[in-house]
Amino acid sequence: MSRLIQLWPAAGLRASSGNLELRWITDELMVLLADVAGRGIHHPDLMPFTFPWTRGSNEQVARGLLSYQWSARSTMGPNEVALEMAVLVDGEPIGVQAAGGKDFSVLRTVETGSWMGQEFQGRGLGTKMRALMLHLLFDGLGTRVVTSTAYADNPASNRVSLKTGYEPDGSYEVVRDQTPTELNRYVMTAQRFATQREALGQLLGAPVTLEGTEAVRKQLAG
Ligand SMILES: CC(C)(COP(=O)(O)OP(=O)(O)OC[C@H]1O[C@@H](n2cnc3c(N)ncnc32)[C@H](O)[C@@H]1OP(=O)(O)O)[C@@H](O)C(=O)NCCC(=O)NCCS
Repeated sequence: MSRLIQLWPAAGLRASSGNLELRWITDELMVLLADVAGRGIHHPDLMPFTFPWTRGSNEQVARGLLSYQWSARSTMGPNEVALEMAVLVDGEPIGVQAAGGKDFSVLRTVETGSWMGQEFQGRGLGTKMRALMLHLLFDGLGTRVVTSTAYADNPASNRVSLKTGYEPDGSYEVVRDQTPTELNRYVMTAQRFATQREALGQLLGAPVTLEGTEAVRKQLAG
């Protein structure tokens, strides 16, 4: 085991199913992901994110990704979790599957968020990477509740939450670009995950392998 993983167990976290893998984001992976993001994540007229980090030139978006990821990677403890996992298909980085929340040691609740390069969208990978993350969060890290939000005008993201078995949990208005915009909320409890496990397994189509979870549980327990 590397010294980094001994000191910072999150660096050794890994989940895989067939050719799909979630892996802690090293600096090397981060640069590749910055270029994926720089090439474009969504149509310029849309804004799927509550913080509009995908506006600007390719360089600005790529640099924004580095800046966010460098700050997020240090947030991994009992008071706050910002787990950012690179998504790889056949070893190629295509996007990020994240989960974060406050007071994890007490609430064990996180919200998932994700993106992938436009070139990889619409092939079922967004659904699979969320299903794999749910295994990591519930089976691997002992999470009790996972939530997700999606703007009403983001059909792919809403659909991924429903397809992976989250329950709709109402909606509310938030400000996006100075306009009231409907944000849908979804929730998945550990009990519900247990009932969805078989369907999620079929969706993934290959057994799930988790690595490094015990040490991360300790890191998050404080
Ligand atoms: C959201 C995202 C991760 C989903 O990943 P994806 O690989 O594109 O999604 P999938 O291929 O797994 O498709 C999931 C479902 O959404 C549907 N879908 C995808 N795009 C759609 C669209 N524009 N309109 C309607 N349905 C759509 C698919 O048909 C599929 O449903 P089905 O199997 O019932 O047909 C990806 O599209 C993305 O990164 N988008 C930009 C960033 C983003 O929106 N992030 C989420 C912020 S909350």
